[in-house]
This record gives sequence, C-alpha cells and structure tokens, in this order.
Amino acid sequence: MIVVVVGANGQLGQALRHIAADYAEIQFHFYTSNEIDITKPDLIELVWSQLKPDFCINAAAYTAVDKAETEPEKAQQINVDGARNLAEVCQRFHTTLLHISTDFVFDGSKKTPYVETDMTNPQSVYGTTKRDGELAIIKTMKAYFIIRTSWLYSQFGNNFMKTMLRLAQERSSVSIVEDQIGTPTHAIDLAKMLLTIIQSKSKDYGMYHFSNQGSTSWSGFAKKIFEWNHISTNVLPIPTSQYPTPAKRPAYSVLDTSKIKKTFHVSIHHWDIALEQ
Ligand SMILES: NC(=O)c1ccc[n+]([C@@H]2O[C@H](COP(=O)([O-])OP(=O)(O)OC[C@H]3O[C@@H](n4cnc5c(N)ncnc54)[C@H](OP(=O)(O)O)[C@@H]3O)[C@@H](O)[C@H]2O)c1
Repeated sequence: MIVVVVGANGQLGQALRHIAADYAEIQFHFYTSNEIDITKPDLIELVWSQLKPDFCINAAAYTAVDKAETEPEKAQQINVDGARNLAEVCQRFHTTLLHISTDFVFDGSKKTPYVETDMTNPQSVYGTTKRDGELAIIKTMKAYFIIRTSWLYSQFGNNFMKTMLRLAQERSSVSIVEDQIGTPTHAIDLAKMLLTIIQSKSKDYGMYHFSNQGSTSWSGFAKKIFEWNHISTNVLPIPTSQYPTPAKRPAYSVLDTSKIKKTFHVSIHHWDIALEQ
C-alpha cells in the first residue's frame, strides 16, 4: 500500500513518521510543505502521476487560529483551496483521502458531545475555512474520510502541552481558561487511528469524530500536565473574559466518537491515560 503524507513537518506529520516503521505493509512517502505545496495542483499531480498512491493523509493545514483572523485569504488558500486540490487529484488517481478537520467547526452551544451530523457553525476564520475545506472535499470526491479531532498535543511541534511545560520553567503560577470544555488528543493516538482506517481497507467513507475519551477544561488539562511531570507550578483557573483572543473559541466542543469506535472496532484511551503515556 502506497501512502502519501502531505504536511509532513507538522505535529501530526511528525507523529505519523514516528510510528511509520511499525507498519511494514505500508510504503510511506512523506512530503513537507517545501516539497508539496498543496496550493499548487501541478506539484500534487506530478507526484501522483509517479507514485499513484492508494491513500493520501492530509496533515497540511493553516493552524494559526488567532492569526487567521487577520490573514483570512492565506487560511482559505491552504484549508479550502489546498484541500480541494488534493481531493481533485485523489479523485482522478483513485486515491482515498484522509483529511483532518476540527472541533472548531462547531459553535460550542451544545451541552452534550457533538456527533458527525450536528449542525456546524464556526465562530472563527480558522473554523470557517476548515468547514469550507470539508465541504470542498465532500463535493469533489467519494472516497474520503474526514476526521474531526480536538486539542491535539504531542512531543512534536507547537501545542498547549509544550507551552505549559515552557511556562512552568519561567513562572510559579499560570492563569488558564476554565470555561472552555473539550478533549485533549494525543497526536500519536490520532496517527494510529488513521493507519487503522487505512489497514482496514474500509469503504465506509464519510465524516468521523476522533479524540481521546472524557473531557476537561484548559485549566484541567494544564493541572494534569503539571501533575504527571511533578511540577509544582500553580494553575489559576480564569474565565475566557479574562483571556481575550482575536479568534472566538467554542465554549464546549467535546466530540462524540461512537461512530469511529463502532465502524473500526477500536477502543480509545481516556485523555488522562494518553497524557500519562
Ligand atoms: N493542533 C490542534 O490543536 C488541532 C485541533 C483540531 C484539529 N487540528 C487539525 O489537525 C491537523 C494537523 O494539525 P497539526 O497540529 O499537526 O498542525 P501543524 O503542526 O500546524 O502542521 C501543519 C503543517 O501543514 C504544513 N503546511 C502549511 N501550509 C502548507 C501548504 N500550502 N502545503 C503543504 N503543507 C503546508 C505546515 O508546514 P510548515 O512546517 O512549513 O509550517 C505544517 O508542517 C490540521 O488539519 C488541523 O487543522 C489540529
């Protein structure tokens, strides 16, 4: 099986590289943004015509949530046009596309976990471009898996966990938002899920939610990060109103993962266990 990963230097891309050796039956081809820019269809086409991949994992995205508010065109080019470019080439070469989306497509007004069919209502430029990227793929091709995930962290790239570990070296206390509820997701667990989907050769295409299990607030997440690392830094829970950001975040964005668990017969770690690991 030939699998192309684009966006290979990002957090998820690096997590995939980290576990690739465990999947001997898969021939991986990793491309960084310098090697395949997904906003350039000719480049995608060139690689596809040589490799004719069975699967593509789109780990490429514009992920700067706050910055997107002031550069919406760039976010649109990567998250919408880039996703469409990949879908068009995948459709032509009979490549199954695994695309990653986000809990930020929801407005956060629900009080129970979001299912795949819940109405989207993104509150930010980033969320809007991610939703439009989903729609571009859905309109273009059939053989796609869109996997929405939430609060990704890992030893790779920039993420909340690494920010907390850095702040803990500089401060004796940190003020962290307590009224946004979601589920931290270990990028390695997401990477393994994507490869499970590929290995299954399933044709149950469509939209799926994947996150670790359970839920917490950002301050709850920070407390656990410090606890597992035996760090004494104090976490001061604060309301969102005391930490204004350019982009609005959903107050509640827990994802219901029943569909992916049932379809692919997987169990998923609780976020706390995943963090410990
Ligand atoms: N991080 C989260 O908390 C989170 C939560 C929910 C969903 N997601 C979704 O999960 C996916 C993976 O996120 P992540 O945390 O791994 O993101 P990331 O670390 O920001 O990685 C994104 C990668 O995309 C690359 N890229 C940007 N523009 C590109 C282009 N035009 N062509 C090719 N590659 C390009 C970047 O290249 P450079 O290395 O050159 O910058 C970077 O390596 C994304 O779809 C994201 O929307 C993330």
